[in-house]
Amino acid sequence: MRIGVLSGGGDVPGLNPAIRGCVMRAIDFGWEVVGISEGWKGLIEGLTQPLEISQVEDLMDKGGTILGTSRTSPYKVEKGVEKCLQNVRKLKLDAIVAMGGEDTLGVASKLYKEHKMKVVGVPKTMDNDLSSTDYTFGFDTSVTLAMNALEVLKDTGKSHRRIMVLEVMGRHAGWVALFTAIGGGADWVLLPEEKADVDSMCKHLKKVYARKKVATVVVSEGIRVPGKKVGEEKLDQFGHMLLKERGVGESIANIIKGKLGIDTRASVIGHMQRGGAPTLFDRMLGVRAGVKAAELIEEGKFGQMVSLRGTEMVGVSLEEAVGKLKTVSREWIDFAHTLFK
Ligand code: F6P
Repeated sequence: MRIGVLSGGGDVPGLNPAIRGCVMRAIDFGWEVVGISEGWKGLIEGLTQPLEISQVEDLMDKGGTILGTSRTSPYKVEKGVEKCLQNVRKLKLDAIVAMGGEDTLGVASKLYKEHKMKVVGVPKTMDNDLSSTDYTFGFDTSVTLAMNALEVLKDTGKSHRRIMVLEVMGRHAGWVALFTAIGGGADWVLLPEEKADVDSMCKHLKKVYARKKVATVVVSEGIRVPGKKVGEEKLDQFGHMLLKERGVGESIANIIKGKLGIDTRASVIGHMQRGGAPTLFDRMLGVRAGVKAAELIEEGKFGQMVSLRGTEMVGVSLEEAVGKLKTVSREWIDFAHTLFK
């Protein structure tokens, strides 16, 4: 057996432990593992790199992905799918492990369905928006980094008697913003899942500020700012807007300043929340997911994705997992608001 491993989409801490887990389990089965560089782009172009024990043994604490990544879709490149299928044959790959989020795994699901490519998916995304799994690795580390940033902002905000706004990533799901706000003890959160009620927010911030002489707001990059027109947006190959460029945190800070007359500052954590050493949770989830992916291949369970269900790692349908985005539920939103007093 010879398997190929690739990582696509935004990198996250936890990918390297996942690659390590997959290679270690493959060694148990006596397989050869080939690294496919830079996601689906690497399979289209036949870019490979060695993936043996010496490349993976010291990866548990390393952020990013040693395989490199891209946001390339074979469905958007001329003859991209054909080239992927040709390279699978040329490289003599018996199966592929695709590590990625909704986009990378969406491609994996299509290649399995339409071309019977023997593929198994490993879910990774800091956005935590993949269905059919309780958590994705990358989320815990990125929220921990954002939570630490919020705590830093509280110190300087308190000294200067300011309201501090922190814009975080997460795309169209508010999980990162929600958990940052809850974990960091913020005073308000704005999520893409609900209409931004700036009047209620300002009323609440006024009360908090009178008590503490500081207040903090976490804003998800995917929100709609009331009164702001959505202009022409630059899209990637999967049709996603580059949300960070919209500056929603700054717009919210201006609204607060305008309504309350309190000095307000906005900060954007951006890509600083997507690197560095993975947390223990992401190391464990990553390495377990990698091991499970090799086991799914051994069992011939192609077209499946590794999933965390409670405390167990299981295989679920790839097609179902990418069918619907997992967004923040009403229950979670209500829970967060219970903590804003
Ligand atoms: O999907 C992961 C993510 O970090 C999103 O939260 C964010 O909107 C996007 O990727 C940023 O993409 P890029 O790294 O291409 O700027």
